[in-house]
Amino acid sequence: MNVAVLKELFPGERRVAIVPASVPPLVKAGFHVEIEAGAGDEAGYPDDDYRAAGASIVSRDTALEADVILTVRTCGAAGGCWPVDRDRLRPGVVLIGLCDPLSSPDACREAADRGVTLFSLELVPRITRAQSMDVLSSQANIAGYEAVIRAAAALPRILPMMTTAAGTLTPAKVLVLGAGVAGLQAIATAKRLGAQVSAYDVRPAVKEQVQSLGAKFVELPLETSGSETAGGYAKAMGEEFYARQRELLGKVVADSDVVICTALVPGQKAPVLVPAEMVARMRPGSVIVDMATERGGNCEGSRPDETVRLGGVTILGPTNLPAEVPFHTSQLYAKNMVTFLVHLMAHGLPTVVADDEICRDTLVAHGGHIVHPKIRAMAGLPPLETPPATPST
Ligand code: NAI
Repeated sequence: MNVAVLKELFPGERRVAIVPASVPPLVKAGFHVEIEAGAGDEAGYPDDDYRAAGASIVSRDTALEADVILTVRTCGAAGGCWPVDRDRLRPGVVLIGLCDPLSSPDACREAADRGVTLFSLELVPRITRAQSMDVLSSQANIAGYEAVIRAAAALPRILPMMTTAAGTLTPAKVLVLGAGVAGLQAIATAKRLGAQVSAYDVRPAVKEQVQSLGAKFVELPLETSGSETAGGYAKAMGEEFYARQRELLGKVVADSDVVICTALVPGQKAPVLVPAEMVARMRPGSVIVDMATERGGNCEGSRPDETVRLGGVTILGPTNLPAEVPFHTSQLYAKNMVTFLVHLMAHGLPTVVADDEICRDTLVAHGGHIVHPKIRAMAGLPPLETPPATPST
């Protein structure tokens, strides 16, 4: 089978789906690997490195003829660039990447209408055996790091305590809201840079992880025993809970120089944890990095990809932090992608096997239909009469 990697078209997307070091494992798995010319340039991987690793450098037209196409962003995640490739995809082609299926069921439907077999990497289940394929985690981890770097650059003070002949500088106070994948890395990074770090999460189970990183866990007198799903995610809480949470968090936020917002409830709008009046109580020069602006934001007033100044406070709303450090995020993404593809092969690709949880959960479209029940429902389609158990291509 030919497997091809496309150059990303989405504005500002500098990552690439496969790095040169990932070519040999694909060749070993039986693929002929094609890379669109220049696909890795922005991430720091020149064509010659792919060639040396055993890949062919091809045009986009040739890449689109491959049996399997690998991308970072496709379908809904490619936004206005999706139609550029959509109308050139061959029926039966296997397309894998971030697809934003839960927000873009219509784009998924277009892929299905073209007869594409579409796998969405956002849908990799967070289970132990899928950890090595979990691109959301690998990318959020680096995004948490990058959020702190951005905050440090925007802050008119340094993060660590410093004793100098000219006097002693006190450390910056960093507060991380949401201690999931991005939040834990933000905590670790701020600690490494010498800040005084505290963190809050609605799931009491993360307290130990926060403390093991050397940060203080902010305890609020709130009833949180039902705040976690069996899968380890946060549950949506009622507005009364959020109002009380904001009230209690006010003092901690006002006392922070940096607030990194990463709170997320899967499939929901981001909870507002920092309302405008709380921002107004922060010291001038303070910085908020809101990582959740794409979902409405954890901080009132933040805007996707804009820097907003509210009083003396700077609010950053970057939506694609992984693309800011594409060398390393591409390396991790590629490792996730190769593991996923080899897993699909082991389960019979191009015949799609639905009795494996990872294959089943990530398969969005096949044989002309959206086959993922949740995305079918979101696209306004009735359930499929016969489940797409083992459609043959
Ligand atoms: P995650 O699911 O691992 O962590 C989210 C955390 O928020 C969980 O620990 C959860 O318990 C906590 N949380 C939920 N409601 C809360 C509340 N009311 N108060 C305090 N904590 C609460 O998610 P992950 O992967 O760490 O991503 C975090 C956010 O960052 C998401 O919104 C994600 O979309 C975003 N993200 C943004 C990027 C960017 O470039 N801007 C890149 C990667 C992720």
